[in-house]
Amino acid sequence: MNIHDELQATITAMVQKGKGVLAVDESSPTIAKRFKAIDVESTEENRRAYRSLILSTPDLGKFISGVILFEETLEQNSDDGIRLPELCAQQGIVPGIKVDKGKLAMANAVGDEITQGLDGLEERLKGYKDLGARFAKWRNVYHIAQMTPSRLAIEANAEVLARYAAICQAQGIVPIVEPEVLIDGDHSLSRCSEVSEVVFHELFHALHRHHVVLEHMILKPNMMIPGKQNPQKTTPEEVAEQTVRVLNRTVPAAVPSINFLSGGLTPEEATANLNAMNQLGQHPWELSFSYGRALQEPALQAWKGDAANAKKTQAALYQRARLNGAARYGKYTAAMESDE
Ligand code: 13P
Repeated sequence: MNIHDELQATITAMVQKGKGVLAVDESSPTIAKRFKAIDVESTEENRRAYRSLILSTPDLGKFISGVILFEETLEQNSDDGIRLPELCAQQGIVPGIKVDKGKLAMANAVGDEITQGLDGLEERLKGYKDLGARFAKWRNVYHIAQMTPSRLAIEANAEVLARYAAICQAQGIVPIVEPEVLIDGDHSLSRCSEVSEVVFHELFHALHRHHVVLEHMILKPNMMIPGKQNPQKTTPEEVAEQTVRVLNRTVPAAVPSINFLSGGLTPEEATANLNAMNQLGQHPWELSFSYGRALQEPALQAWKGDAANAKKTQAALYQRARLNGAARYGKYTAAMESDE
């Protein structure tokens, strides 16, 4: 298959009505933090056991079309001895891989960060592809404070995301491009929207300069929400209206799908916000999810590191996947939270 057809086949498999992406790509420090919250030690075996359980949830493929894995997971086996990317594929789910190497303080831009991992990316992608990965994910973050994000950081981060996306496409790997304007801080909803608009605008300018094929990428942005320390309360309808407005102003219609990150929202908030956006009617792109915490939190709480809780864990994940599947159609209601 030529690269164009290969990228298109992956997009077609990932962008489906009523479905979204599950992010289980927590880096080693992040998964250690999630496990600590349920009193589980982050050993390689515990990480494998948990992710094997999650990915073998019966019928997960009804609502999940792609799973983002962490490097280590690509070479791990399920309890039944099946390679985990293969297990995803058997469920009709496209396996993908987080490829950035994390963020660090950006030189000469106080308070801003930049993501690393471009050096050697092409070679790494070849290896990941051999192990079954068909798409990749890379995350850059933007801190809202009085002086940040700076113009310098907005431009440098856009450049890095575009370079990553171009390298992926050259290897026949679909890039999920993740610019995350963080929820931390006391900023208002309108400030989040202003910053996000500038960030997304700069990003698409860079993607254009790097000849990234927009039809063959997925955008994974934040929603428009006030900072966590801001007392302002918003409704899903307000979040939806602001978010769609910013996306309409910045994301070309050629992009097939926008899959939001949950970024610290509760599972219920993340689902209700997505639902409200899809209730606004037809958009130029699919509006979907690529949640980590908002899909996994109830499952982690059910699991607690104990294999005896396997059924409960899978049921909790299935329930959130199902509710977000309904939100893809704008058909979620809070009453569905208590469905069996
Ligand atoms: P959250 O939905 O927990 O923000 O995670 C999504 C993700 O992949 C962050 O990079």
